[in-house]
Amino acid sequence: MQRVFSGIQPTGIPHLGNYLGAIRSWVTLQETYDSFYCLVDLHSITMPWEPEKLRQQTLVTAACLLACGLNPDRLYNQSAVSTHARLGWIFNCVSRLGWLNRMTQFKDKAGKNRENHSAGLYVYPNLMAADILAFHATHVPVGDDQRQHIELANDIAQKFNHDMGVEFFPQIQGLIPPHAARVMNLRDGQKKMSKSDPSEQSRIILTDKEDDITLKIKRAKTDSEPLPGEVEGLKDRHEARNLITIYASLSDKTPEAVLQEFGGNGFGQFKKALTDLLIEKIVPIAQETERLLSHEDHIISLLRKGAETASTVSEPIVSEAERLVGFLR
Ligand code: AMP
Ligand code: TRP
Repeated sequence: MQRVFSGIQPTGIPHLGNYLGAIRSWVTLQETYDSFYCLVDLHSITMPWEPEKLRQQTLVTAACLLACGLNPDRLYNQSAVSTHARLGWIFNCVSRLGWLNRMTQFKDKAGKNRENHSAGLYVYPNLMAADILAFHATHVPVGDDQRQHIELANDIAQKFNHDMGVEFFPQIQGLIPPHAARVMNLRDGQKKMSKSDPSEQSRIILTDKEDDITLKIKRAKTDSEPLPGEVEGLKDRHEARNLITIYASLSDKTPEAVLQEFGGNGFGQFKKALTDLLIEKIVPIAQETERLLSHEDHIISLLRKGAETASTVSEPIVSEAERLVGFLR
């Protein structure tokens, strides 16, 4: 059986990059695959955090995902299911320092001040591999920034199998969307759209109202040239390319088709169309999120049920991994 697993950090409100790069395909994939989706709160404490904020952000992220149409039976928070941390520890002992040293996300997040970051941030990719493999998941829908972590997970699975002399963990495949796998910051087209950017104007979030979207797109950085008629004309025009990609992805068109429609004109008419499209797609999600958030207890009880199912499925797999390693059972 083929299984899908993916996760999102509850470190802020999910944004358009999360939606187009990951969440939207999660909703489609759950129709055909046995799927689990996880609020990875263990990952969220790898960077400095505030406990009350983490609690609130976990609830908001859960509400956004439910509002996008995720199956409530398969959504849970990572720390509620012990298999993640148990397999994560085993993988800390399978993975190699040399492999972790190559991880670009660690380098990006740690920046120059590497010595002062948590040990958790460094071993983060091992835990991510455990998240996936604790379910014997084979397909992992993620944005482009997770490509390297998926490769590492495969290296870990292979080394575990080799060292224990078994064919226990499957190879996994990242499912990365063809367009919008890396949605960029609205104020700087060379940076990824992210929850942690200090400027709220840099991202559209899934709780934005009509006015927020209008203002953010109005202020989104562009350049002074008209839009080109061909995709090649977007080379080195990072902001223009990003906005065209967002429009294409949201309207299920190719960037070529979007440029056929808007090429030759300035940004005015295009920004208006983009704003309308974003309002049409995002505002209903924002409204449903708000409605769900007025029933916090309900969200908590859904997550608990999701965690029970996730435990039932991953417990036998992780127990077997523990037995293979030589732990008394
Ligand atoms: P995170 O917010 O880092 O937990 O990411 C959750 C999911 O969203 C992962 O699959 C990421 O690859 C994806 N993602 C995050 N930022 C972006 C972005 N700017 N563009 C596309 N996908 C993204
Ligand atoms: N590392 C992912 C991110 O930052 C989140 C994540 C954690 C994840 N565990 C996962 C994604 C397992 C896919 C599968 O976006």
